Amino acid sequence: MALHRLLGIDIGVPEPEVLDDFYQEIGFVGGPRKWGPEGMPNQIVIEEAPYRQLLEMRVACESEADLHAITKNLDALGLHSSLKDGRLRIKDPVNKWDVVVEPHEVSDVPEQPARLMNRPGHRERIGARPGVMTEPVQRPPRRLGHVVIGTSDILATHALYVKGLGFKISDIVGGLGFFTRCSSDHHNFLMTPGPVPYLNHYAIEHDDIDAVMAAASRYSRAHEGVQIAGPGRHMIGGNVFWYLRDPSGTFFEQFADMDQIVDDAAWEIREDWPMDDSWSLWGEKDQPEVFFRPDDMDAVIEGFHKQHG
Ligand SMILES: [Fe+2]
Repeated sequence: MALHRLLGIDIGVPEPEVLDDFYQEIGFVGGPRKWGPEGMPNQIVIEEAPYRQLLEMRVACESEADLHAITKNLDALGLHSSLKDGRLRIKDPVNKWDVVVEPHEVSDVPEQPARLMNRPGHRERIGARPGVMTEPVQRPPRRLGHVVIGTSDILATHALYVKGLGFKISDIVGGLGFFTRCSSDHHNFLMTPGPVPYLNHYAIEHDDIDAVMAAASRYSRAHEGVQIAGPGRHMIGGNVFWYLRDPSGTFFEQFADMDQIVDDAAWEIREDWPMDDSWSLWGEKDQPEVFFRPDDMDAVIEGFHKQHG
């Protein structure tokens, strides 16, 4: 595929310094204002902004030829983009954030040693206590995996990202929630209808279920009122999840074990997900109401209208 990786995002918040402390606490490196896992310290860039919002999303393509092909697709949609210094940039006309596409070599995050597990009839952790208990340091988050946004014009957003930029649809829920990918992950970018464009959540991948549970437990035990949803395992995307709230009010998901799609033709896009029964295979049955109506939604709506008219 032309697109092959989610490189990073810029987030705007009124108080950037609270996120510096936060990203350090959850195990990202870098800073100030630029954070990520080891080896990718610019995956999340923080800037000051009047209300919390997504400012930019960066995606990798394979070659310069891809940039020209994307420009052509955007032109056909009547969307203006600019090509400068080997990067394509477009201001999303509906959602107001920038999308940047740039060529990068195709690569994956380094493989981590799998922890030994026992299953009926298959014992591999013999005479040893669990890795999550015995490993000398907690396993850190490995990368930014996906971004979920709300938008006031889902069809225009779908056109820009799918027809224009080349994100591929993995699944559709309710006819209006588009799970799309720019890598082998089931989703890197999920668009959903919303009252105004806003950042619903970003998700950080961990090595395994233990790492998700340990990281989310650690954070939620240390901070009151951060629980949003989970733990559970999504039906759509298949990932184990646990959603918490970061200090700026944006939800962040810790996840592991997402569906991988490497053969596009062999993947069957499902559109028949029941709206009221597709949240989680175990754990809480229903998505909490706060999920698409965060506590600061009114401030985000007001902030959007003030800044963008
Ligand atoms: Fe997610």
